[in-house]
Amino acid sequence: MTATWYPDLYLRYAAYRARPADDLLPRLTLSVHGDIYDLGCGPGTLTKRIKDKWPARRVTGVDSSPDMLASARKKFPTGIEWQKADISQWTAPKPAALIFANASLHWVPHHETLIPHLMRQVTQGGLLAVQVPLSGPQLYHTCIEALASSDKWKARFQGAHPHADPLVASAYYDLLTPFAAHLDIWETHYHHVLEGDDPVTEWISSTGLVPFLSVLTDAEKHDYLADYSALVAKAYPRQSDGKVLFTMQRLFIIATKN
Ligand SMILES: C[S@@+](CC[C@H](N)C(=O)[O-])C[C@H]1O[C@@H](n2cnc3c(N)ncnc32)[C@H](O)[C@@H]1O
Repeated sequence: MTATWYPDLYLRYAAYRARPADDLLPRLTLSVHGDIYDLGCGPGTLTKRIKDKWPARRVTGVDSSPDMLASARKKFPTGIEWQKADISQWTAPKPAALIFANASLHWVPHHETLIPHLMRQVTQGGLLAVQVPLSGPQLYHTCIEALASSDKWKARFQGAHPHADPLVASAYYDLLTPFAAHLDIWETHYHHVLEGDDPVTEWISSTGLVPFLSVLTDAEKHDYLADYSALVAKAYPRQSDGKVLFTMQRLFIIATKN
C-alpha cells in the first residue's frame, strides 16, 4: 500500500516545520563544484530555499509521493528539477556537491546500508546534510504505538509500514567515519507552542499517522483520529494559557566527504 501524503495539511505548521532547516541550512558551505539533491523534498519549500542559497547550481527535488511532487511542481515550476524516485533505490547521475535530506530519511529503512550508500553519491569535499526526528521517546509516538497494538486497531494495521526510529548518534558516527573528512552531529529539542482544538493530531496526521491513515477507509480514519485525539489530549495537558507545548526531538548530521 502506497502512503498518501497531504501537502496542504503538512504545510499547516510550515513555520515550525521550517525551524530545523533554519538551523541546518546556514551551516552548509559548499566549496566544491557539483549538483544538489533534496531527498524526500515533499512540497518543495526547502528545495526552493536551497535553490535561492545556491542559484547557480542545478538543484533536484526527489520524492516518491506524486501528490507532494505535484504540489512542488505547481509552486515552483521553473528553476528546480523534480524527480519521482524512492530514496532507497536512488543514485546520483554523478557525484553530488550536496545531498540534503530534511525530515525524510526516517521513512527509509536500513540506515546501516543507506547512509554509506548516500555518502558514495557525494563528491570529495561535498556534504551529506541530514535532519531526522527522534520520535521514539516522544508522547505523540507512544500514543501511535498504543493504538497500533490495541485490540481495536492492530488487525487493521497488518499492511501498514510505519517508519522505524532512526539510529543513535554514535551509530551514525561509526557508519560515516570511513567516508567523512569531518562530521558535525547534534540534537535539538524544539518546544513548539500549538493552539487550537486538537493541534497535536493535526500536526501528526500529516506525518507520523500517514502510514496508518493510508490503510483505512474514510469512516475508519474518522474513528481512528478520534481515538488518537483522545489519547494525545491526555498526554499533552494544556498549559496555563490553554496552549499545548509540543516537543520534537531532532538529530542533525553534516558529513563532509573525504
Ligand atoms: C515529512 S516530509 C518532509 C518534506 C521536506 N523534506 C520538508 O522538510 O519539508 C517527508 C517526505 O519524504 C517523502 N518520502 C518518504 N519516504 C520516501 C522514500 N522512500 N523515497 C522518497 N521520498 C520519500 C514523503 O513522500 C514526504 O514528501
